[in-house]
Amino acid sequence: MGVDSGIPVVDRVRPLVRENLHAIAPYVPGRPIADVMSEYGLKDVVKLASNENPFGPSPKVVAALQHDLDAIHRYPDGAAKDLRAAIATQHGLQPESVLVSNGSDEMIKMLSETFLDHGDEVVVPYPSFAQYSFGAMVMGATIVQVPLRENLEYDIEAMVKSVSSRTKLVYLCTPNNPTGSWLTHEQVRYFLDRIPQNVIVALDEAYLEYVTSTDPVRSLELIREGRPVLSLRTFSKIYGLAGLRLGYALGDPQLLAFVNQVREPFNVNVLAQTAALVALSDQEYVALMRDKNEQGRKQYYESLDQLGLSYCKTQANFILVNVGNGLAIFDAMQRLGVIVRAGFAGLSQYVRISIGTTNENARCLQVLEAVVER
Ligand SMILES: Cc1ncc(COP(=O)(O)O)c(C=O)c1O
Repeated sequence: MGVDSGIPVVDRVRPLVRENLHAIAPYVPGRPIADVMSEYGLKDVVKLASNENPFGPSPKVVAALQHDLDAIHRYPDGAAKDLRAAIATQHGLQPESVLVSNGSDEMIKMLSETFLDHGDEVVVPYPSFAQYSFGAMVMGATIVQVPLRENLEYDIEAMVKSVSSRTKLVYLCTPNNPTGSWLTHEQVRYFLDRIPQNVIVALDEAYLEYVTSTDPVRSLELIREGRPVLSLRTFSKIYGLAGLRLGYALGDPQLLAFVNQVREPFNVNVLAQTAALVALSDQEYVALMRDKNEQGRKQYYESLDQLGLSYCKTQANFILVNVGNGLAIFDAMQRLGVIVRAGFAGLSQYVRISIGTTNENARCLQVLEAVVER
């Protein structure tokens, strides 16, 4: 048995790959600043592409991390006991109602691995966060996409109708990425009251801390009522810790115990655990970030109104703007040193802009005006 069979490795192993993986298109992340700098010979690039916190984490987090660098030769606490206890206390829950993950992305994958098989259906809003469909495809489940209305708000009646006897999991993303549109508590309750009580509903609340609307979803209330609802949260957004990768789910302890079975033993690293503990304790900083983001939203609303560009009202830290040809505007802006995001399925006319600092927003708006006028 020689190795030189003349057949390339790729052709020998392709038949071994699980069939459903062939249909998965790779995730396209926001472009890194360094890539854009070197491609276009730019010295100063603003990245408003990945809904990160432009101010970074609380300074207290950075100080704690410096201290913790001495401990990185040790494995993390696999059960993340202190962190889960702190998250639970913040929400008035027991630690068993908290499961942590390597970013919300991992939680979405774990949910898929726990519950989905070939033939199962997953109901997702469309357009929404791509990872829901990715997780379903990895497991060979069937994705049922429910289009948002023309105004990019949820169509709750259509969501209800799309749940069938094969549905195991529904994602509701609020505020929704990439539109910024949101659900009220009453809408979610209406939905939950009309679907079978054994369907798991994952409420992705990655941007919850930015919400300033008067009737946000009260996911904890729904969990306490004994519904199979999970609230997915992350430290990547308002807490400014996207690079450390830390997400968590809140829900029924026994439901989470099933998900815990597919969790890797040390899925959340030492630095992420320390950072999150300190970040949670600094809620003043969180409030400050929420205020700054709200000012940023207003800055965009005012300038976009002046420019005559329509946009989707947002409760998140990004705004979806109708520019006519999203990819062309994205490309033109990038050449001038501002990275935004375009190319979302079903949203070819739009770019999504993450809300940055006042100066970053001003530069973005200036560049947007220049390229739109061209
Ligand atoms: C709606 C939504 N959920 C989850 C995530 C992933 O967050 P994390 O960085 O925790 O994996 C994002 C990231 O952009 C998001 O927009």
